Amino acid sequence: MSTLFEEVPASFGDDVPVRRVTLTVNGEQRAANVEPRLLLAHLLRNGFRLTGTHTGCDTTNCGACTVLYDGVPVKSCTMFAVQADGHDIGTVEGLATASELHPIQEGFKDEHGLQCGFCTPGMMLAAKALLDENPNPSEDEIRWALSGNLCRCTGYQNIVKAVMWAADKLGGAADDSDDGSADGAGSDAGEEG
Ligand code: FES
Ligand code: FES
Repeated sequence: MSTLFEEVPASFGDDVPVRRVTLTVNGEQRAANVEPRLLLAHLLRNGFRLTGTHTGCDTTNCGACTVLYDGVPVKSCTMFAVQADGHDIGTVEGLATASELHPIQEGFKDEHGLQCGFCTPGMMLAAKALLDENPNPSEDEIRWALSGNLCRCTGYQNIVKAVMWAADKLGGAADDSDDGSADGAGSDAGEEG
């Protein structure tokens, strides 16, 4: 007969196993002892105090927690910290240098790609992954790349414009025959969300 509940020694909570993880965060080697259940988002925010990684839903829906995992955008609320062991993690804090903003950050500033800013770090990192792989994306490609990231106040037009601005600044959009405008109505990512 199976039991639904088994009493455990009172000291059980003190014996939670921890694992040492070593990872590179924004180019710097970091190490921590973590419980296997700790989420990567929580290691970054609470462990390393990199609070630019936001947590909006904890359920893989909003994309606010997006970071770069070996250059690939991932939702860090959906990964365990131990999965980052030995990997390269990029957060929004790694975009700017000491003296200047990254072109993606400049684009969001110039094109008014944010209001409250809650979604912005995740948007920027998803955009960075896109531009690293495709320096001259179409509007549709930008909308697709950002489709896992929700914005509840700006709407998407200016965010798309911001990424186009950055692509242009980085030199990729110079020969875009379709004038690069994000103003066209009826685009499939639209204004919902
Ligand atoms: S907090 Fe990770 S997807 Fe929303
Ligand atoms: S700027 Fe407020 S949620 Fe996107």
